[in-house]
Amino acid sequence: MRKLLIILVIGCITAGAALAQTARPGDAGLGDPYFPLLGNGGYDVQHYTIDLTADVEDNTVLATVTIDAVATQALSAFNLDFLGFFVADVTVNGKRVVYERDGREMTLFLKEPLDEGEAFTTTVTYFGVPGEGVADPYDVFGLGWANYGDGVFVASEPAGAARWFPANDHPLDKATFTFRITVPEEYVVAANGLLRETRAARGGMMTYVWETEYPMATYLATVNIGDFVRQEDEGPDGLPIRNYFPAQLAQRGTRVFENQPRMLALFSDLFGPYPFEAYGAVVVDTPLGFALETQTLSLFGREVLSVFSFGRDPQSVIAHELAHQWFGNSVSPASWQDIWLNEGFATYAQALWIEHERGAEALADYMRGLYAYISSPALQDPRIAAPGSPPPEALFNPSVYQRGGWTLHALRLRVGDEAFFEILPTYYQRFAYGNATTEDFIAVAEEVSGEDLDEFFRAWLYETEVPPVPEMGLPPVIEDEELEQAG
Ligand code: TRP
Ligand code: ZN
Repeated sequence: MRKLLIILVIGCITAGAALAQTARPGDAGLGDPYFPLLGNGGYDVQHYTIDLTADVEDNTVLATVTIDAVATQALSAFNLDFLGFFVADVTVNGKRVVYERDGREMTLFLKEPLDEGEAFTTTVTYFGVPGEGVADPYDVFGLGWANYGDGVFVASEPAGAARWFPANDHPLDKATFTFRITVPEEYVVAANGLLRETRAARGGMMTYVWETEYPMATYLATVNIGDFVRQEDEGPDGLPIRNYFPAQLAQRGTRVFENQPRMLALFSDLFGPYPFEAYGAVVVDTPLGFALETQTLSLFGREVLSVFSFGRDPQSVIAHELAHQWFGNSVSPASWQDIWLNEGFATYAQALWIEHERGAEALADYMRGLYAYISSPALQDPRIAAPGSPPPEALFNPSVYQRGGWTLHALRLRVGDEAFFEILPTYYQRFAYGNATTEDFIAVAEEVSGEDLDEFFRAWLYETEVPPVPEMGLPPVIEDEELEQAG
């Protein structure tokens, strides 16, 4: 009895101490070594509702973004990442709050602190020209909202999301999304997830409601406004495919993208079931020179429909963006330094598609060509050579893609097909809908193969010099010479 009393007293004291735990401001970043100010500490976003009216001609937007989040510490203040615009109103749990803006950081000061574990709702109402007057230290590549005259696309990897909506802008904090996008009725809107509703709004406007029930990193959110035709198709297990093509290019689009169901079938076999509620492509009517794996709806420029797409076969780019839905989107990098986990994997998936379509010899040819490329002086430049530690200002350099992709092929040659094709789905399934580090991948490769691969990965990912091709694999150069000698 007495003992119990003591325990009760101690219990009360600790509970009291927890309650009295003083609320403090959340961190201004999430600790990414490459981009310390990306994301914010102290809360975890559950859902974004982006209610946005776009004037395509004037390139202005008026928006209210509602952020449902849970505090992960007692909070007296917290930050959002947000750049540009005029902010009209900011509320937390329905009450106006005082805020301050400094570059990418917007700090909201709470009159009543939030408890750890408490759910809360923030709204930000803003308007203006996206990107206007914005000086962004992290403007590496992510554009954010881009108006090309006849329409709009949104491409934000890695740091562009904060250039069009207030966010916890780091892939470590994924959330579900609702988009309510209002545009003049001559336009069509394509965003992530499923189109739930199209309804007439005031003044000859239309509102498109899109929604995704799967967690998504902020950089993968996209809104596309244009003169689109929607074309439907079906993937494995009845997966809905919806493609959006510029109206006058729709026929060509249908043909160029007709392999998507077969690519979906291949990658579902090799990696695991397709992660989301739908897939498709949006082709915007402007030349981009790049594509982006925006979740459930990959984004392409109109050059993908021309014969000289990217100077190469458009099927490769189509396979690449699709593969990112597993690697990059479902399994997200834990930090931007891990970007090869996205780009190396999507690049090797292109090779897997080639192998599937044209056989082992075609794969060997393709990998041989890539090996010559990654061994060239340009790619062995010490500034970019190591795909596991690209410079922050050149995250998407060719070594991350091509040598990152070759790292997986080298792993396959090293451990053999059986282990390799068990490593991929094991890694995928273990980290699906979450985040992974390079160490996580290496650990799975070692676990499945039963081999010590530390030295292997160190040489491929972190050294300047390209390692030799593992033994049992295709010996690219030697074989050619031998053949010549034999002939
Ligand atoms: N991830 C893209 C790809 O699949 C490349 C990319 C990075 C990108 N940042 C971007 C494309 C910003 C468009 C906009 O290769
Ligand atoms: Zn990619």
